[in-house]
Amino acid sequence: MHDGSGRILVQGLSKNFGPINAVQNLHFAVEPGVVTGFLGPNGSGKTTTLRMILGLIEPSAGTATIGGLPFAQLPNPATVVGAVLDSQGFHPGRTARNHLRSYAAAMNVPDQQADQVLELVGLGSAATRRAAGFSLGMRQRLALATALLGDPQVLVLDEPSNGLDPEGIAWLRGFLKSFAATGRTVLVSSHLLREMEHTVDHVVIVSRGQCVYNGNLEHLRSAQRSRVLVQAADPNTLVTALQQSGLAVEHLPDGRLAVLDSDSRTVADLALQAGVALYGMQDERVDLEQLFFQLTHGQYTGGAPHAGSAWAGGPAQWGPQSAGFAPSPYQQVGYQQPEYQQPGYQPPPGGPPQQDHQQRGGSGGFGGGF
Ligand SMILES: Nc1ncnc2c1ncn2[C@@H]1O[C@H](COP(=O)(O)OP(=O)(O)OP(=O)(O)O)[C@@H](O)[C@H]1O
Ligand SMILES: [Mg+2]
Repeated sequence: MHDGSGRILVQGLSKNFGPINAVQNLHFAVEPGVVTGFLGPNGSGKTTTLRMILGLIEPSAGTATIGGLPFAQLPNPATVVGAVLDSQGFHPGRTARNHLRSYAAAMNVPDQQADQVLELVGLGSAATRRAAGFSLGMRQRLALATALLGDPQVLVLDEPSNGLDPEGIAWLRGFLKSFAATGRTVLVSSHLLREMEHTVDHVVIVSRGQCVYNGNLEHLRSAQRSRVLVQAADPNTLVTALQQSGLAVEHLPDGRLAVLDSDSRTVADLALQAGVALYGMQDERVDLEQLFFQLTHGQYTGGAPHAGSAWAGGPAQWGPQSAGFAPSPYQQVGYQQPEYQQPGYQPPPGGPPQQDHQQRGGSGGFGGGF
């Protein structure tokens, strides 16, 4: 029964491996009914966290529960949680079907369920082939089939798109969304936000074992605003014209104007009407992957993330490791190096440079993202 009871709750979770603080004081909830992305660069503590949620390693501190219980106390765990942490553990001599049947027997699940999940993951025609000959993508699918055998309430997948071709990624995206849409819980990790952007509703982003963002992906997008940078012959006249049209404008240190939440065409039309010559314009657009990199920046650079950046004053869910402004999350369309990449640039008080994901270029990632 998928009654929405498969909520994952992580509270104060930490894990040290000797001197390595792999996971530090994580707090987040994974709600049924939506796909939650667990994102972070290599070594940021994703797998360690998932292993603690699944009761495979003991936390140094804190708790993780599924439906209110630690994994070890779940009455019939395989029917509650299906998990894929790696796709290597198959008996090489076994066929896909026999692999699944051996698991089905251990889980007290009927044999025919093996064929059903094989069909579900697109391996129906490979049922009698030995897993030893499977490609990485096929092993990913077989691992997913294994996780689905018990018709679980909760799915926990560690980097499931590794090795999948674009079609497989698109299939996985649709599968996870429809799985969640039945009121079940999906927690899926990746080191690529772009790869997940069309799949996940909610994201938990970690860097160096700490949470740097926990919230809705749309909110992450809408927290940014687009800007048009304009070099005008008569900035003051243009500012008046823009403000009279209801646009917010900022003066930049280099003499240019930054017009918020607009586009170059609108600004050019208003400049023409005001009789102001323009010497150049530049649309600023945010690339989600760059934004992710910015949030997790510093993991391997040796330095601590920039404390006290404009991000720190942002929404409450921005974590303590929110990074500074380099590298910028923006993609530029224009002719000049933007000023926030130049020495001495001060970000606007309302937050970092703005974005417009509607206009964002280069989105979609591999195969359109899964
Ligand atoms: N068993 C272990 N013993 C010692 N250190 C470990 C162990 N497992 C993980 N670590 C360390 O903990 C940190 C987090 O590792 P983890 O595997 O959780 O990262 P990850 O986010 O899953 O990375 P990736 O994207 O590469 O899979 C790393 O520094 C890693 O070296
Ligand atoms: Mg990992």
